[in-house]
Amino acid sequence: MIKRTTEIWKVDPNQPDPAIIAKAAAIIRSGGLVAFPTETVYGLGANALEAEAVAAIYAAKGRPANNPVIVHIAKTTDAAALVKEWPTTAQFLADRFWPGPLTMVLPRSERVSDIITAGGPTIAVRYPDHAVAQALIRAAGVPIAAPSANRSSELSPTRAEHVAKTLNGRIDVILDAGPTQAGIESTVIDLSGPLPRLLRPGPIPPSEIEAIVGHLLRLLPQDESAVLPSPGMLARHYAPRTPVRCCKSKTEVVERDIELTRNGRKTVVLWFGCKHADSDVALGVAMPDNPDRYAEDLYWVLHEMDRYGADQILVELPPDTDEWLAVRDRLKRASSTPGL
Ligand code: TXA
Ligand code: MG
Repeated sequence: MIKRTTEIWKVDPNQPDPAIIAKAAAIIRSGGLVAFPTETVYGLGANALEAEAVAAIYAAKGRPANNPVIVHIAKTTDAAALVKEWPTTAQFLADRFWPGPLTMVLPRSERVSDIITAGGPTIAVRYPDHAVAQALIRAAGVPIAAPSANRSSELSPTRAEHVAKTLNGRIDVILDAGPTQAGIESTVIDLSGPLPRLLRPGPIPPSEIEAIVGHLLRLLPQDESAVLPSPGMLARHYAPRTPVRCCKSKTEVVERDIELTRNGRKTVVLWFGCKHADSDVALGVAMPDNPDRYAEDLYWVLHEMDRYGADQILVELPPDTDEWLAVRDRLKRASSTPGL
């Protein structure tokens, strides 16, 4: 990996300065690495048409070569050059959700480099809904390959500080446009097979996609026996450094907390909605009882809890319903609590 000097450039999230964007775009075009905000999390971008530039993303992240990256575009028609064919289902989904937090996996065009697809037959494409991301892609004049801007398997960044924390010295520039809005990674669906399939739940709930494509097959990480169609679905992923334990109720949180504190362990709690009425748990955060708000805060709260230096994060899980699917998925992956 090349040692780099990482610069942080502040930009307005809605009207980024074209001069700053032009400088960042020139870095992308010359094979460099630029972290930039999207509406979900910060991405680590490189020129998707240049294999060496994409290889540098893998080196900076310590990402295994078998995990393909998403290619970002800023015009729906630009997807055509990346895929073998553009089905009507994809067009309908793009009309409804792009720009936005939906990633579509489709059979790849022969022109796409193997390193992006990890040698596989498909490519993931997405048109992000963020003025900075769009301006950067347009100014670069090339599609931008970008995984989340964190070291492999760690928490995704929702602020520029989170990117700097782990990638400082490994990338060229971080475009700092403040906190991202959706807070968790895009919904990923696979349109390459006979039936559309949900690969990663995200800000767009499955019901909204099903309204357009009909039934979505689901294959979430708890289905351990299944072959993983998407390497990023490994059970432990998106994890803070502090161990996380998921609990099914407030009572379970309190019981575990009592046991841990008795053994001299420092705990922090993510309550669902409100804290337990009469527990004396030292530090806890009452997370929102709305799934979008919860997702927006989740990684930021986990990043903060890592800074606090607790021995254990206890999480009261939100309800097991479809609207909480994406949040529960990220909490379970953060913890790999056995039996969940
Ligand atoms: O919101 C997002 O999607 C963010 C922003 C930066 O766009 N990106 C992101 O990228 O989360 P990453 O690399 O951290 O996660 C991409 C996921 C991984 O689980 C990866 O395995 C999967 O998408 N993926 C990428 N290409 C794929 C493909 N061709 N087939 C199946 N899964 C793919
Ligand atoms: Mg990631």
